[in-house]
Amino acid sequence: MDSGDGYEVKDLSLADQGRKNLDWAESQMGALLKVRERFEQEKPLEGMRIGVALHPTKETGALVRTLRAGGAELAVCACNPLSTQDDVAAALADEGVNIWAYKGETRDDYYRYLTNVCESEPNYTLDDGCDLVSEIHNNHSHLVDSIVAGAEETTTGIIRLRAMEEDNALKYPMMAVNDLKTKHLFDNYLGTGQSTIDGILRASSILFAGKNVAVAGYGPCGSGIAVRAEGMGANVIVTEVEPIRALQAVTDGYRVMPMNDAVREADVIITVTGGKHVINKEHFSAMKDGAILANSGHFDIEIDLAGLEDVATKKETIRTAFDRYTLPSGKHVYVCGEGRLVNLAAAEGHPSIVMAQSFCGQALAAEYAVKHKDELKVGVNEIPEEIDTHIAELQLEALGVQKDTLTTEQREYLSSWQEGT
Ligand SMILES: NC(=O)c1ccc[n+]([C@@H]2O[C@H](COP(=O)([O-])OP(=O)(O)OC[C@H]3O[C@@H](n4cnc5c(N)ncnc54)[C@H](O)[C@@H]3O)[C@@H](O)[C@H]2O)c1
Repeated sequence: MDSGDGYEVKDLSLADQGRKNLDWAESQMGALLKVRERFEQEKPLEGMRIGVALHPTKETGALVRTLRAGGAELAVCACNPLSTQDDVAAALADEGVNIWAYKGETRDDYYRYLTNVCESEPNYTLDDGCDLVSEIHNNHSHLVDSIVAGAEETTTGIIRLRAMEEDNALKYPMMAVNDLKTKHLFDNYLGTGQSTIDGILRASSILFAGKNVAVAGYGPCGSGIAVRAEGMGANVIVTEVEPIRALQAVTDGYRVMPMNDAVREADVIITVTGGKHVINKEHFSAMKDGAILANSGHFDIEIDLAGLEDVATKKETIRTAFDRYTLPSGKHVYVCGEGRLVNLAAAEGHPSIVMAQSFCGQALAAEYAVKHKDELKVGVNEIPEEIDTHIAELQLEALGVQKDTLTTEQREYLSSWQEGT
């Protein structure tokens, strides 16, 4: 480990490779670079100390550079022990960013790094999964009064924040970045869809065509995974608990059934619900020999791995991010990426172009929160629709796509009721 004042990373000598990866990511993040250009001129984040707990990937590196261009000082750690790209962390440390992160962090290091971020006394927080907010509320509550606002990147984090708000436990305003349409309709659907399959392929190197692939949860993430698995020739099964989502899966052409039945048929099972023990201890013995399990939901509790370790007679790591468990019957079950977000544990997370949109949301939410701090409620704040529309426009511009605009006649027609048959 290389550590010094304000950083702890795996190996600083990886910085050159990290810069190359960052530059490659930025070459596909034109929308975010537009925001950065403006931030460089206007410095809207001057005076902000932003505590960041995100997946330290090359795309997050591009966001870090953008927030710094806006005038903010940053302290960065990971929001998952397996999601750091060590070369990127080295490049950021080399650029003078305060960063503590490496791939494969121990639980102690994970919380030590969160503590380092808290000790930088942030007045804005940027979270993916709410661990930083929880840490501040539980162990650094003296910071709360000086925090202008925070932002949350993922569905599970928003669910936790709303639960805190309901219990009157949330003590500063939060910006619901995940709920922007330009975020969850693209990042969760397209990003998770592609990168989850990428992670499973890198871990296992299997052929998807002809496999029975069960996807648990048919939200934006699950529906994205289902459509990509189908596109690769898999027979997709969906499990759901919510009637409308289950019906959507049926009418999208997938077989929907309870997990108790799906485990008997599936060659690959992917959880992406945000819930707990979706695959439970009883399911393992009913699985096909050779079944491959992966999770793309935020926390590593969707597959009951403790239950699997209990029933298994043997566990071997047979490839990077690919463990084989032997059951008493002699059957094998494989787990990708230790049951943690497979797209980050076994691959590189979402494609950069998708993250450009999500991170425009983060940068613009921070700017909005600073400008409107007196209007924000202590609770979960929706981000104004104009920001969503602006992000879509930035991305269309970056893609070189032009669209139509309404004529005056059309606009008047659409806002009137007199004209009929
Ligand atoms: N891998 C990634 O990079 C990535 C990216 C974005 C979001 N996420 C995470 O993925 C998860 C899903 O995100 P989303 O936006 O699709 O959320 P969502 O809440 O919109 O969808 C989750 C779906 O799972 C269903 N579900 C809940 N419990 C279930 C169970 N026991 N069995 C079957 N279905 C169940 C819910 O009814 C819901 O339809 C969250 O944890 C989110 O934070 C991961």
